[in-house]
Amino acid sequence: MLYDQFELHQSRIFLGSDCFAEALARCEPSAYSRCFFISQEQVWGFHGQALAEAFAASGVTVSEDHLYFMPDGEQFKSLATFEAIQQWLVDRGADRRSLLVVLGGGVVGDLAGFVAATYMRGMAWLYVPTTLLAQQDASIGGKTAVNLPQGKNLVGQFWEPRAVIVDSAVLGTLPQRQINAGYMEFLKHGMLQGEALYQDALAVPTATDDWAAQMPVLARGVRVKADVVAQDPHEKNQRRLLNLGHTLAHALESYTEYRQFLHGEAVGIGLLYVAMVARRLGSTYAWPGLMEAVVPRLPACDPANWDQTRLLDLTRRDKKGVGGKIAWIIPHRPGDVEIITGIDRAVLAASLEELVAVLGDRVAAVR
Ligand code: GLY
Repeated sequence: MLYDQFELHQSRIFLGSDCFAEALARCEPSAYSRCFFISQEQVWGFHGQALAEAFAASGVTVSEDHLYFMPDGEQFKSLATFEAIQQWLVDRGADRRSLLVVLGGGVVGDLAGFVAATYMRGMAWLYVPTTLLAQQDASIGGKTAVNLPQGKNLVGQFWEPRAVIVDSAVLGTLPQRQINAGYMEFLKHGMLQGEALYQDALAVPTATDDWAAQMPVLARGVRVKADVVAQDPHEKNQRRLLNLGHTLAHALESYTEYRQFLHGEAVGIGLLYVAMVARRLGSTYAWPGLMEAVVPRLPACDPANWDQTRLLDLTRRDKKGVGGKIAWIIPHRPGDVEIITGIDRAVLAASLEELVAVLGDRVAAVR
């Protein structure tokens, strides 16, 4: 059932539960010269048949020759995979009027979206994100990219999909850890939006057999992202607010060499941190429930052993900084978030010390 749909620039965003066929019927895939499918083998194993049946109902047959499986893992979001897919498309006669259909999480979406952005100077693509993280974040707003050995997402383009299908059915096959990580981007959207969505985000259960029942509230998170992107598609200003919690998160991911935390988990820690920084800068809102929402969703970790000086130094590499100054996104209260550059190092260091102390205790307490 389709729960909601809306337009974002040239994209149509569909939100629902078991809604592939209904959404595709509104996308007219048979109007494209041909459809090419990019996914990962395991993801296709879970959801490929349902997607193929929905395409068949819209007049498009998914043939094995038009289905490309890319390997799983951030290391394959590379120029090598990019080139392999471009050549695969050329060999099969894809043209500018073809449609690239992408079924997968953020790695597949980023890479295949960049293929779509550049193939014959740009082709249409349709994205079915299969993680909660990609549903809440990567699928909306057309950021596409590949990594270089020097860093993540260094080569890319803004290229919004023609359609995005956010379907709660895919959440049922996700490992709990992936759900927990994706939840953090949703929680971030609640913090950005205001008290009502923040409170409703806190009430979302950690685990459930009925993701369809959560679709109305999850859809509000997707809308928050879409509304920000609608105002600022190329991240000149407002879109930087979506970086809430990400400055420390990126530093933590880099500090732990991308081995200890999923991106969303690091974002959760980053959200706790900026709430603490906000308090030190004079905000009076205490973010009730934030700690209780984040900590039980984190993996075991050892904050007491973090080198806090190095971690803070790593925040200086944040891509969102301008002229060497870090643009911190500081949440004063739900819906009241400010970009502040040049926060005093003493404030940042004291907040980090507080985070480590509180997190150390809490992580120990829930395990
Ligand atoms: N992930 C943040 C953005 O899309 O701008």
